[in-house]
Amino acid sequence: MDKIVTYNDVTIPAFIYGTAWKKEETARLVELAVDSGFMAIDTANQLIHYQEALVGEALLTLAKKGVKRESLFLQTKFTSISGQDHRTPYDQSADLPTQVRQSFESSLKHFHTDYLDSYVLHGPSSRWGITQADWDVWAAMEEYYQAGKTKMIGISNVQADQLRELCEKASVKPMVVQNRCYAVMGWDKEVRDICQAQGIVYQGFSLLTANQDALRDPQVWDIAKRVGTNPLQIIFRFALQIGILPLTGTTNAQHMKDDLAVLTQFELSQDDIQKIESITM
Ligand SMILES: NC(=O)c1ccc[n+]([C@@H]2O[C@H](COP(=O)([O-])OP(=O)(O)OC[C@H]3O[C@@H](n4cnc5c(N)ncnc54)[C@H](OP(=O)(O)O)[C@@H]3O)[C@@H](O)[C@H]2O)c1
Repeated sequence: MDKIVTYNDVTIPAFIYGTAWKKEETARLVELAVDSGFMAIDTANQLIHYQEALVGEALLTLAKKGVKRESLFLQTKFTSISGQDHRTPYDQSADLPTQVRQSFESSLKHFHTDYLDSYVLHGPSSRWGITQADWDVWAAMEEYYQAGKTKMIGISNVQADQLRELCEKASVKPMVVQNRCYAVMGWDKEVRDICQAQGIVYQGFSLLTANQDALRDPQVWDIAKRVGTNPLQIIFRFALQIGILPLTGTTNAQHMKDDLAVLTQFELSQDDIQKIESITM
């Protein structure tokens, strides 16, 4: 379970290291994450939460150590004005396709590369439906995909009805979805079901931070005790086994190893999976 393949036949490592909120520690932590075994990095061209340029700094250091660009999976996002502060990576008065192009080219520069593995729309512009603004942005992203400048495109923070609409009407439907995963929402079941039906890879974030109740649940503790691990790893392994590609943002070297260990060290039974699914309903 160390790789996942998209509907257009691109491979994604089965665990992604996320770089949100790492600030000036971003470069050191990306380097540490790759040294620890993470081969996929998630960021965004959005200075409020991410330091994309510092991810690129780590890539330079890693390259000097022999880590080739092609061995890494680099994912970043286009964030619209509403998700940015004044430091946008594009001209705020430009039209949306131009903003996407400026943001994309700036991401390539930050990463010192000429292609991305995955380019994600940070979120639709409204909670309801896919607006004309979203279609304009998506079309510009599709152009980069068609030109081979990104191996896949995706969408984040998306509601089920929005994903259905995008899949129905887009020229290129998303290869990945990246959503916050709440146990109380059946671990985002409605969106995951669409992804499964459409062959879209579902990436889940906040698996630990958004699910403190699940982490405290005695049944999860019992499973962890039986398997010989801790409840956090049980949640990550559960996610993998129900088809979620997890992200972790750990800042700790041992936790990086612990998180990656869930890929190989143990397996949950169908009974375990059902128990974890049921505690959340
Ligand atoms: N698309 C979006 O809008 C969006 C939004 C949020 C996040 N994301 C992405 O998702 C990534 C992950 O975010 P997240 O919210 O899931 O995680 P996160 O906020 O970075 O938090 C992970 C938490 O889990 C702890 N942790 C992880 N592994 C652990 C272990 N083995 N033992 C103990 N504690 C452990 C970490 O603590 P330690 O540091 O002490 O290990 C940290 O407190 C982000 O960096 C970003 O790339 C995307």
